[in-house]
Amino acid sequence: MNVIDSIAGMHSACAQARAAGKKLGFVPTMGALHEGHLSLLRAARERCDVVAASIFVNPTQFAPNEDFAKYPRALERDSELLQFEQVDLLFTPTKEEMYPLGAVTFVEVRDLSDRLCGKSRPGHFRGVATVVNKLFNIVQPDFAFFGQKDAAQSAVIRRMVRDLDLAVNVVVCPIVREADGLAMSSRNAYLSAADRKQAAALSRALRKAESLYRSGERDPKKLIDSARRIFAEQPEVAVEYIEIADPDTLETLRDLSRPALVAVAARVGSTRLIDNIVLP
Ligand code: PAF
Repeated sequence: MNVIDSIAGMHSACAQARAAGKKLGFVPTMGALHEGHLSLLRAARERCDVVAASIFVNPTQFAPNEDFAKYPRALERDSELLQFEQVDLLFTPTKEEMYPLGAVTFVEVRDLSDRLCGKSRPGHFRGVATVVNKLFNIVQPDFAFFGQKDAAQSAVIRRMVRDLDLAVNVVVCPIVREADGLAMSSRNAYLSAADRKQAAALSRALRKAESLYRSGERDPKKLIDSARRIFAEQPEVAVEYIEIADPDTLETLRDLSRPALVAVAARVGSTRLIDNIVLP
């Protein structure tokens, strides 16, 4: 695995792969890798000749009161996992390399960025869109792989790619879950043993809504109420939102005649977790 920390170095290694006629797959990450990330790398390996990954904890997607400083960093272990997954190129820039002094340009995907997590994390998706756009420019991948767990993020990125005519195919891979249903996330590392038990309520609530849907219920409010009842039994879990939205625009849906994203965000202790399912 070729580990590169400069933009120029990564740009030219990727250009070389493309010039050799290789199909280039890219998995951007913030590190602290788990099975969810590994599933993206495997999807990239299946589809592409050369697999590139990046590890960069992107400061512009964290608000000042958020967990940028304490976000888990595990570069040594991550590198081993990436080598094991036969990643060819690993990009590990510093924040000075990615945002040199005087950088004032941002990418804003309007409207979508203010919905779901964007409501409580103003500026978050602007930071995500900006860094992903920069990474796409550096790597210029044929395919880029993202996890469905961050459903709003993937909608923002898909829209950015469409609106800015970026020549990359975005592939969104299914959520990978722990045995009790908890969606894999780097932030699960923050959970205490007691919090960890409570955290399974998110996927339980979603499954409850899904089973009501499968039994024929088509009123979004009733599905949300059924999910809320699961949380009512779990007062330690503070729900931030449960919403049923269009998976592309993230607008609230009033009926369930088309595919619907059921998305939840909640705090367990001080850890903010998200999860979702798509119906049908
Ligand atoms: O999903 C993530 O890990 C990050 O938001 C991403 C896409 C790597 C951008 O920093």
